[in-house]
Amino acid sequence: MMIFLDTAEADVIAARADTGLVDGVTTNPSLIAKAGADIKERIADICGLIPGPVSAEVVATEASAMIAEGQTLAALADNVVVKLPLTMEGLKACRALTDNGIATNVTLCFSINQALLAAKAGATFVSPFIGRLDDRGEDGLGLIEDIRHIYDEHGFATRILAASIRSVEHVEGSAMAGADACTIPPNIFDALVQHELTDKGLEAFLKDWADAGKGAI
Ligand code: G3P
Repeated sequence: MMIFLDTAEADVIAARADTGLVDGVTTNPSLIAKAGADIKERIADICGLIPGPVSAEVVATEASAMIAEGQTLAALADNVVVKLPLTMEGLKACRALTDNGIATNVTLCFSINQALLAAKAGATFVSPFIGRLDDRGEDGLGLIEDIRHIYDEHGFATRILAASIRSVEHVEGSAMAGADACTIPPNIFDALVQHELTDKGLEAFLKDWADAGKGAI
């Protein structure tokens, strides 16, 4: 499963890029606005930090304007993925951009039918928002499982990008459910490596080594 960072903060991405674990980045209008950045400059910067897919979202709501914005965003770097909302206009724009060789991420997916339409529109990625479903008492990870099933059953190549991640359990659940990628807020990315038994075990190994009078290898 690919791991993406869900942030528009360039310094936060830069600080994690050298882990070799970040396969891509996702942004959205809320994250770009929160970062106080110019979208074109920020997306170009992020694309220079991470060679993998970097999602940049359109803000137009009508297909032809979405296509124009998508082309502008795609021209910023080879690894830009144009993010489009899961509306009929967004799906029309997805088909047009896909047919022009531009990678797409259809976002704000909350149902199996929406995921089916995104795949039929040729989306490179579809982004089911699992946290926002859980927030209102629905089963976000169940949706990932269901989309995996229909994509496999019908041979769709669209990749499932689990989004709206709230916890480390959402990340492991996404992997178990067969997501192709998971986009993770930086604090949750940092928490993935943590386990108290790892810390205790390492402490014991190093103490035993030092007690035996041994030094660096
Ligand atoms: O990038 C889209 C997404 O992951 C949003 O997450 O936390 O705003 O529901 P959230």
